[in-house]
Amino acid sequence: MQGLAPPAPQPPSTPAPQRPSTPGAEGRGRHPAWGPPAAIRPLDSRLRPGSKLPSDPPHRIDPSALPNAPPMQRFAHKHVLVTGAGTGIGRAIAQRLAREGAALSLAGRRPEPLAETERLIRAAGGRAQVLPFDVRELSAVRAGVAQAARAFGPLHALVANAGIGGPNQAGPEDRFAELVQTNLLGSYHCARAALEHLAPGPGPRHLLFIASILARIGVGGYSGYCASKAALLGLTRSLAMELAPQAVQVNALCPGWVDTAMARQGIEGFAAATGQSFDQAKAMAMSQVPLGRMASPEEVAALAAYALSDEARGLTGQALDLNGGAWMG
Ligand SMILES: NC(=O)c1ccc[n+]([C@@H]2O[C@H](COP(=O)([O-])OP(=O)(O)OC[C@H]3O[C@@H](n4cnc5c(N)ncnc54)[C@H](OP(=O)(O)O)[C@@H]3O)[C@@H](O)[C@H]2O)c1
Repeated sequence: MQGLAPPAPQPPSTPAPQRPSTPGAEGRGRHPAWGPPAAIRPLDSRLRPGSKLPSDPPHRIDPSALPNAPPMQRFAHKHVLVTGAGTGIGRAIAQRLAREGAALSLAGRRPEPLAETERLIRAAGGRAQVLPFDVRELSAVRAGVAQAARAFGPLHALVANAGIGGPNQAGPEDRFAELVQTNLLGSYHCARAALEHLAPGPGPRHLLFIASILARIGVGGYSGYCASKAALLGLTRSLAMELAPQAVQVNALCPGWVDTAMARQGIEGFAAATGQSFDQAKAMAMSQVPLGRMASPEEVAALAAYALSDEARGLTGQALDLNGGAWMG
C-alpha cells in the first residue's frame, strides 16, 4: 500500500538449505529428514485443546525452518516478459519464474537494475535478457516485445508490473496524468504488444496485471494511483472476456503493503506529512493490517507463479488480494 506508511524492515530472506536429492523417494513415504520442521512442532503442541495460544503468532515462523521443497519446474520452456523487473516485486517475480524454468525478458526504463536482475537469474542457472523500454511509449513497447520474441520465442505470459506510486493533487504539478499514463496506459500498451507475440494455443497463456489494494479502497490524496489501479481491474475483466475464447487467462494481483522502495517512500512521505518518525509512521500503517506486517516481494511472486501456472487453469478475470487482511472482499 505504497504512499501511506513506512516499510517494516524485514529479515533478509535466507534460502533454506537444499534438501538432499533422493531419487525414487516419491510414493515411499516421507523421508525422515523432511519431517515437520522444528519450528512447527512446538507450535502444534501449544495449540492442543486447552493449551494457551502462543504469544508468537504462526505467521512469524522462520521460513528457513520450513521443509525445502524441490524446485518446481512449472514454467520449463516458457517465455515470460516482466515489466518493472529491475526492482522490488518485478525482480522477485522474475527470479521466481526463472527458478521454475521460464526464460525471462526483463523490461523497465533503467538498464542497470535490469542487468542486475539478469545477473542474479543467470547466476542461479536461469535464462534472462534485458529490454529497456518505457511502458508509456507504445512504439517502444512494441519494438521491445518484438525483440524479446525474436530472441526467446513467442510469449507465454506477460506480467505488467511496472508502476509508479505517490500522491497527487490538483494544480500545476498534478501527477494524475503521469500516474494513469504509467500504471494504466503503460500496462495496456504492454498487453497489446504481448498479444501480438503470444505463443499459439491450446496451452495456457496469461496476462497478469499488478494492481494494488488501492484498487479496492480510496485514499485521500491518492486519486491518480487509486484510479489507475482500480481501472486495471476493469481492464482485467474486459480482456478476460475478450480472450477467453482463445484460452488466454487474464488476472490481476492486489497487494497491500509490500516491502520495497516504493513502500518505503510512501512511509517516508506519510511520516513527513504527519510529523512522525519513520518508525512511528510505519507502526501506524501496520496497525491497520490485521497480520501486522508487510508482505515480502517473494510472497507476491509466489502468488504470481500460482496464477500463471497450469494449476490455475480455471482462473480468469479475477483480482487476487494479498494484504495481511487489510481489505477483505
Ligand atoms: N510496494 C507496495 O507496497 C505495492 C503495493 C501494491 C502494489 N504495488 C505495485 O507493484 C508494482 C511494483 O512496485 P514495487 O513496489 O516493486 O516498486 P518499485 O521497486 O518502485 O518498482 C516499480 C518498477 O516499475 C518500473 N517502471 C516505473 N515506471 C516505468 C515506465 N514508465 N516504464 C517502464 N518501467 C517503469 C521501475 O523501473 P524504472 O524506474 O527503471 O523504469 C521499477 O522497476 C507497481 O505496479 C506498484 O504499484 C506495490
